[in-house]
Amino acid sequence: MAGFRVGIGHDTHRLVEDRPLILAGVRIPHPRGLAGHSDADVVLHAVADALLGASALGDIGEIFPDTDERNRGLDGGVLLTDVLERVAAAGWKPVNCDVIVHAQEPKLSPAKDAMKRNLARLLGIDPAAVNIKAKTGEKVGAIGRAEAISCQAVVLVETIDLSGRD
Ligand code: CDP
Ligand code: ZN
Repeated sequence: MAGFRVGIGHDTHRLVEDRPLILAGVRIPHPRGLAGHSDADVVLHAVADALLGASALGDIGEIFPDTDERNRGLDGGVLLTDVLERVAAAGWKPVNCDVIVHAQEPKLSPAKDAMKRNLARLLGIDPAAVNIKAKTGEKVGAIGRAEAISCQAVVLVETIDLSGRD
């Protein structure tokens, strides 16, 4: 019997000098980037947490601790692919994904389409089932002062249909 679950994810990284800005696996031209033990891709981290949430599998900090040297510079795409394997082993696959990136800078509209296509590719779903929204912080708070970028993600998963398999 088909079943559905929903999951929510959130992530924040500080915006600093001398780091590349990578969002949804896309390198975005900007003088500053996100600090972190990993590649600090807030979008892929939030989406991975949403998938783990939907599958009741915990959070990415439990699977990829930032105290583990093996996770230094960890590519968000590698992290998300690992999470998707765990989600599939638990019997779930993604249906759609909605994302809000909270960033005062840079303007993300030119990159949104590439972000959406890359996120869809990683999730193995149609780009029409992925949505990227961007919001400034209206110059208020840490986001508004461009001290950090945050991301929220919601993912729907459905049970993997095993009826067609041997
Ligand atoms: O207009 P509203 O207050 O809802 O949102 P906003 O935060 O002022 O953002 C206005 C528009 O800029 C939206 O269409 C966002 O998609 C876009 N935006 C962007 O392209 N890049 C950002 N870093 C933030 C917002
Ligand atoms: Zn993160």
